[in-house]
Amino acid sequence: MKYPGLFITLEGIDGTGKSTQYRLLVSYLKQRGYVVCATREPGGTRAGEHIRGILLKSSTGQIGAMAELALMYAARAQHLEEVVRPALARGQVVVSDRFNDASMAYQGYGRKLGTQTVRAFDRIVCGTTQPDLTLVLDLSPRTALERAQGRERRRNSRRGRFEAESLAFHERVRQGYLAIAHQDPRRVKVVNAEGPVGKVQAEIRGLVREFLVRRGRGRKGTRD
Ligand code: TYD
Repeated sequence: MKYPGLFITLEGIDGTGKSTQYRLLVSYLKQRGYVVCATREPGGTRAGEHIRGILLKSSTGQIGAMAELALMYAARAQHLEEVVRPALARGQVVVSDRFNDASMAYQGYGRKLGTQTVRAFDRIVCGTTQPDLTLVLDLSPRTALERAQGRERRRNSRRGRFEAESLAFHERVRQGYLAIAHQDPRRVKVVNAEGPVGKVQAEIRGLVREFLVRRGRGRKGTRD
């Protein structure tokens, strides 16, 4: 079933500034008068936030790769049912901080579960509800990890499940995202996340505007 709404997702390895860019994009779209459903994964629902807690608090090794993937898709199933599909059915613009490409990149490539395994989950759980536009924030893992670690120091927090992973793991995740973009260039746009926040956001807004116009949902008015 095709819904009248539009589904935009933001992706990238940890430390690319994705969550900041997500917040800025959501407020920009609201300012321009779009009815936005802003959400995130893993999480986005009560059950999903519980699952997020289980996943992010447990150290690597405690939960195996396949269980990790299944938990991501359990959270996603709930998220789709409670949040994403109802919002799309109402014609809203759904903006999600991560979605199914994260499972492909992190579990499929990063944890080496392979593309077929992730696709099998995806066919069952997401089916035809797929993102219409995906922005992948791209940055070298070394720079991204430095940023993520700086953020943790500022917050005085312990390194999380994924931040504690090796540079090689994050390099595989990055290559996973780039492979997804290469296979589906119409939907997936790669944004260089190295520049200052404002410059990256300007590029994101440009891509989103172009997409909305293409889908017949463009708005007149100032450029930003
Ligand atoms: P994120 O919300 O970006 O972390 P933060 O708390 O730093 O904002 O994502 C949490 C982690 O979950 C992130 O390292 C990526 C990982 N993840 C997966 O491995 N697979 C998935 O399917 C999803 C949605 C996230």
